[in-house]
Order: sequence, then C-alpha cells, then structure tokens
Amino acid sequence: MKEDVIVQIRDIKKYYGKEPLIVKALDGITLDIQKGTFTAIVGASGSGKSTLLHLIGGLDQPTSGTIRVAGRDLSMLNRDQAAIYRRRNVGVVYQNYNLISMLNVYENIVFPVEIDGNTVDQEFIEEITKLLGLHDKLERNVNQLSGGQKQRVAIARALAIKPVLLLCDEPTGNLDSRTSQDVIGLLKASSMKLDQTIIMITHNEEIAQMADRTIRIEDGKIVTRKWGEPCL
Ligand SMILES: Nc1ncnc2c1ncn2[C@@H]1O[C@H](COP(=O)(O)OP(=O)(O)OP(=O)(O)O)[C@@H](O)[C@H]1O
Ligand SMILES: [Mg+2]
Repeated sequence: MKEDVIVQIRDIKKYYGKEPLIVKALDGITLDIQKGTFTAIVGASGSGKSTLLHLIGGLDQPTSGTIRVAGRDLSMLNRDQAAIYRRRNVGVVYQNYNLISMLNVYENIVFPVEIDGNTVDQEFIEEITKLLGLHDKLERNVNQLSGGQKQRVAIARALAIKPVLLLCDEPTGNLDSRTSQDVIGLLKASSMKLDQTIIMITHNEEIAQMADRTIRIEDGKIVTRKWGEPCL
C-alpha cells in the first residue's frame, strides 16, 4: 500500500436479503483515498452513500471485498477491536445525528473522549464549541435543540477525539447556507491542522465544489470522478 493512502477499498459489495429480493447497496467499489484530503461523495437517495461510509467507519461489514484503513484490514478486527478502532480513529457525523438524549450538549460532545478513558482537552472543546456557536448551550438537553443545533453538536462530538478520519453523512443538511460554509471551513481548518482525512456525503453542489475530489455513486457503483482521474 502506498504511504499516503489512508483508505484502501477493494471491490467491496454489500448485499441485503436474498434473490430474488436482493438489494445490492454496494456492488463492487474500488477506491483509494489519500491522507489529509477532503473527498465529497454524491449521488441520488438510495445509491449506497451511507452504506459506504458506515463500512469505512467499521460500523458494518461488507458482504465481500476488503477495506484497509491506515494499513489495517477492518475485516480482521473482532467486535471489541472494531469498537476501539472507531473510538480512537474515526469521527462520524451521522445522517440522523445519533445523539444521546439523556445527556446535555457538553456531555454528548465529550462522551467519546471519556469513554476511552482520556482526559478532555477543555481548551480544544471550548474552541470548537465557540466556532460552532454552541458555547452558550452546553448545559442544554439535546432534545431541546433545533435540527441545525443538533447537527452542530454531532460535528463537535466527531471532532472532539481529534480523529484521523472524519466521516460526515450530510453534515450540513439542516444548516442554512452561511452556517454550512462556516462549518465546512471549520472542518477544513481542523483537517489541515491535525492532518485529518475528510470523507463527506453531501447533496449540496457548493459544498462538493469545496472538496479536493468528488466521487459519484449510482446504484452501488462509482460512476464518475472529478477531473476524470482514476480512483487508484
Ligand atoms: N439494513 C438494510 N436492510 C436492507 N436494505 C438496506 C439496509 N440499509 C440500506 N439498505 C438499502 O441499501 C440501499 C442504499 O442505502 P443507503 O442508505 O446507503 O443510501 P444513501 O445513498 O445513503 O441514500 P440517502 O441519500 O437517502 O441517505 C437502499 O436501497 C436501501 O434501501
Ligand atoms: Mg444516506
């Protein structure tokens, strides 16, 4: 594997159900992603975007094919190892936020840091919550937040562990255009500072334009790439 490739995907398939009702959510994806880059994934609803992101995040296993992240084959990890891999390396902003409703904003943000037994970098948390406009809402229960506010908490939580890999599923779907641009700016700044790799699903053309590279998925397959370059 080349030194600067952080995610190496080889012919992955993810099928649900059985013939004749089989759903081929992913049907042969091969892709390399370079360390420190920002990749946008675009495609119609149901094309397989979230499925792909979840597989890269080690949240699910492919039906066949391999995924290596930083040289490690994710299929070789058992359940516990996969959980540790995710906690230490991957920040995920889920399409439906996945916040813990019993906890307040601050507790949600630092949860992945504390569960791994690490000390919270208060200065860093203060910096990201300020930039995300959450600093005056830290004590609020997440149930009392708007969709856009929840989305920003999910982003702060993903950043809190300073992940190697930042996987974002429509992180600006509920944000206005100005806030979206600010959030993307923050993610880009963070990725530059911490040498993070960002993979982001978006339906927003303007945001896709801000990425180093755009990958389009249709019916579980990659169809085009920016600048017509090969994926490898
Ligand atoms: N757990 C599951 N069981 C069966 N089918 C599934 C499951 N999860 C996803 N699918 C199917 O796999 C396909 C891809 O789903 P996926 O969620 O990856 O789409 P998506 O591109 O993220 O769409 P959207 O833009 O609407 O979020 C869809 O046809 C979906 O119905
Ligand atoms: Mg999706």
